[in-house]
Amino acid sequence: MADILEIKNLTKIYGQGQENLCVLDNAELKISAGSFVVLLGPSGSGKSTLLNLIGMLDKPTSGEIFFEGKDITKMKSESKRSALRRKKMGFVFQFDGLLPEFSLLENVALPGLMHGKDERSRAQKLLDQFGIGHISHKMPADLSGGEKQRAAIARALCNKPTLLLADEPTGNLDAARKEQVFQDFAALAREGLTVLMVTHDVHAADYADAVYTLHERKLERTK
Ligand SMILES: Nc1ncnc2c1ncn2[C@@H]1O[C@H](COP(=O)(O)OP(=O)(O)OP(=O)(O)O)[C@@H](O)[C@H]1O
Ligand SMILES: [Mg+2]
Repeated sequence: MADILEIKNLTKIYGQGQENLCVLDNAELKISAGSFVVLLGPSGSGKSTLLNLIGMLDKPTSGEIFFEGKDITKMKSESKRSALRRKKMGFVFQFDGLLPEFSLLENVALPGLMHGKDERSRAQKLLDQFGIGHISHKMPADLSGGEKQRAAIARALCNKPTLLLADEPTGNLDAARKEQVFQDFAALAREGLTVLMVTHDVHAADYADAVYTLHERKLERTK
């Protein structure tokens, strides 16, 4: 299949002068459409940084990121960047990022509602699929960490993205739930979704089509 994502010579240096910190040094990555890719690496190695760059939430120091053939590092207009993100990408943040003043159902449907699309029935279906449909009326503060994490996954899928960027989406889940999410992501990839998932769980590699490991600023394909 064609590559949905291609990264060339990607370098990210935080800060300036003496204080700078190089996190990514000429990273290269190619992901074909409809694959489930796992990103491993020690804490602080730059995994979230890489996801943020791909999701256009931050800008690289140098290098190129081609998403569906287009170099998104060259997109200057913030409104175009956010429109592309909204249309094509789903983001599960390392910390769930649910809005505390809205119910689970509203959290999942909200990105669509803000742009005039009533996606409440799709949102409810996704919550059902992740085993939290019966508590969709509850507020995030009244839920467990794992329930919130599953809601964050449902929210990221609600806009039917072509690329799902998931940053440790299973950190708060028990072993059985974790495995279920890995299986779900592998199944979604078979239906055409591309998934890039950060995890500390090496077991996830068993479900993945490809595995990359980030270590000492270098990104290496390890499966
Ligand atoms: N905005 C920032 N400004 C300066 N340094 C940063 C910034 N964000 C992250 N860093 C540093 O960059 C390095 C990589 O951080 P990053 O969050 O990408 O790591 P990570 O691999 O996601 O770690 P973890 O597994 O703990 O989530 C860390 O040393 C971190 O302190
Ligand atoms: Mg991180």
